[in-house]
Amino acid sequence: MNILYCTSEAYPLIKTGGLADVAGSLPTALNHLGNEVRIALPAYPQALERAINVKHLTSLHLDHTAQPVQVLEGRLPDSDVSLYLIDSPAHFARDGNPYLQPDGREWPDNAERFATFGRAVVALANGASEDGWRPDLVHCNDWQTGLVPALLAQQAQRPATLFTIHNLSYQGLFPADTFSRLGLPPSLWSIDGVEFYNQLSFLKGGIACADHVSTVSPTYAREICTPRFGYGLEGLLQHRADRLSGILNGMDCSAWNPRTDPHLEQNYDVHRLQRKAFNKAALQRELGLPVDAQTLLIGYVGRLVDQKGIDLIIDVLERLFHHPVQLAILGSGDAALERRIAQASDRFPKQLGARIGYDEGLAHRIEAGIDCFLMPSRFEPCGLNQLYSLRYGSVPIVNRTGGLADSVIDLDDASAQDYTATGLTFDAETPDDVLEVCLRALRLYRGAKVDWWKLVITGMKQDFCWLNSATQYMELYRQLRSAEPAGTATTPPQKAALP
Ligand code: ADP
Ligand code: GLC
Repeated sequence: MNILYCTSEAYPLIKTGGLADVAGSLPTALNHLGNEVRIALPAYPQALERAINVKHLTSLHLDHTAQPVQVLEGRLPDSDVSLYLIDSPAHFARDGNPYLQPDGREWPDNAERFATFGRAVVALANGASEDGWRPDLVHCNDWQTGLVPALLAQQAQRPATLFTIHNLSYQGLFPADTFSRLGLPPSLWSIDGVEFYNQLSFLKGGIACADHVSTVSPTYAREICTPRFGYGLEGLLQHRADRLSGILNGMDCSAWNPRTDPHLEQNYDVHRLQRKAFNKAALQRELGLPVDAQTLLIGYVGRLVDQKGIDLIIDVLERLFHHPVQLAILGSGDAALERRIAQASDRFPKQLGARIGYDEGLAHRIEAGIDCFLMPSRFEPCGLNQLYSLRYGSVPIVNRTGGLADSVIDLDDASAQDYTATGLTFDAETPDDVLEVCLRALRLYRGAKVDWWKLVITGMKQDFCWLNSATQYMELYRQLRSAEPAGTATTPPQKAALP
């Protein structure tokens, strides 16, 4: 099948989080299954620098865009995946974060930026590329691509559409007057289109209008149908339940492989596990912590935002550090959380090694050097670090939610007995819960070594490489190609007054 995979980030071209990891590796896995996947991505400066063989492909004259938009073609590094880079300098020629200004606020023209991107994707979906390539299916990801299924649903002839939700909490919500400014088809201003409580919601466009909606784990697919996780969209998601499913993310097993990882002090695998200890010592040195094999070294890598429950960790440091525990933190995000972490690392220099910022190499060294990886996320659509941790023999400690619940098997009597346990799971409601589970890990680590290594080795033997998940996507793509288009979500349509 020909698949147009549209995304606002893809590793190694540009990355703010797990979407980039997925977009940078799922297309390769799908190509290995015999498809031709092409990625459409905004031509950010970083992406232009890193893409291979970039050349001009075509000019697009899009509705409501003053200048023609250029489409450049290229290749994703270390892959056979073709790229369409949507080059609209007024919208994308900006350094730094693709969504946020240097002061952390959203770019004020995000609606225009991603509407332009979406319109260019629609043109490519309709065969605008010079070589006449046409997709059978357009696979969209997150709110930045939400207008694509909405615009395509207006056409009689079109490819099938799949909209994947990586995170429902980012919705692309804009004031109502943005709708007319963008010149979107009036019929889309409806409760079964992009209108959401008199605001324009890009995310809702994707959910309401795609032929199928998927999320990145089966548990998250169920959770978002409830008020606690649904952000007001739970009604619509319940309504679309027969066209909503979850496929757990895979991971890039060549980039994340302790046997070959170039970032590590010593490479290792399940047969040479004793070498992991060198990585622990090296990490302790790198972070200025005392080198001590007996101290339990816990890690955290991630965006510093409310979703991740990092505040629960900070709240418990004082009590946690009464015990022989060290913590390695790498992250950036919310300024107040960054400040609290910096203060704590001044206060506990022998137990907290923290780096604020983004550092791909250090993220790998943390995965290899720690004993456990802590994820008290309040919600986690999938989560990738628990998958990396399993492969690196670092025991994941995770809140029982979303993809965390779907990928980590808790240690209890039964799972210890039959060698299925891969980590520790808990209900992360309060700092006390975090303290309790860390102490549980400490007891295990300092107890009979055989139990600890059993857990580590079972984890390392799990296979979360892409093949399994990519095969599930293939099955879904096939069903969508042969199905009748879904049209819009509800019938009969209930029109809202135009803004
Ligand atoms: P999310 O997409 O919600 O941020 P995921 O667990 O799916 O969470 O993916 C996060 C990805 O980003 C992982 O590959 C993680 O290693 C990486 N990452 C997050 N913060 C940093 C950082 N400060 N430095 C390096 N890598 C980071
Ligand atoms: C999102 C989610 C994360 C998921 C990632 C990739 O950013 O927060 O849980 O792993 O997307 O799908």
